[in-house]
Parts: sequence; structure tokens; C-alpha cells
Amino acid sequence: MWIKILNQPPKEGTMTAVELQGKKIFVTLNKGKLYCAENRCPHEDIELTLGCLKSGRVVCSLHGFSFDLATGVSSQTDVDDMTTYSIKQENGEIYIQI
Ligand code: FES
Repeated sequence: MWIKILNQPPKEGTMTAVELQGKKIFVTLNKGKLYCAENRCPHEDIELTLGCLKSGRVVCSLHGFSFDLATGVSSQTDVDDMTTYSIKQENGEIYIQI
């Protein structure tokens, strides 16, 4: 099911935190492509929007581990991958699939 979460995409290179049905997620526009993921580091439960974007990955502010925006794959083999969601833009509005 696709659910509308934003009226417009975030600015390039920024992360927008959204709460949806009690779940913390974030949306980002990176090099013109939209991504959506859970706003929680799988390592120690801190919001990933406190970190930064680098080379197609979100870098956690606490220990610096990073997660691929497209796949969620962790930089550390002993840390779970980040949960990602399908995202699309329709008539300027942003939808994710949950
Ligand atoms: S809490 Fe995110 S890398 Fe440790």
C-alpha cells in the first residue's frame, strides 16, 4: 500500500524526518534520487537524521557506521542493515510503500 508522507520532496542533500503510524522514518533526495529508510540506527537506536549523507550512504553520528541509502546494507558485517522503503513522487507529492 502506498501512503503519502510529504507534499514535496526534501531539498537535495538533506534528510527530512517523518513519523508515520508510530514509525520514525526519513526521506532524502540524493543526487536527484529519492530514498526512504527507518530513522533508527540498527547499531544503538539513535536517529540517523542526526548524521550526514556521504557517497550514497547515511553516516550515523554516534560511531560513524554507514548504511547504503538504496539497499540499507551496513558498513559493518556485525551490524544489521537499515530498513528501507520503496518511495515515489507523483504530482509533486511523495509516497512510500509499507
Ligand atoms: S549507534 Fe549508529 S553507528 Fe553506533
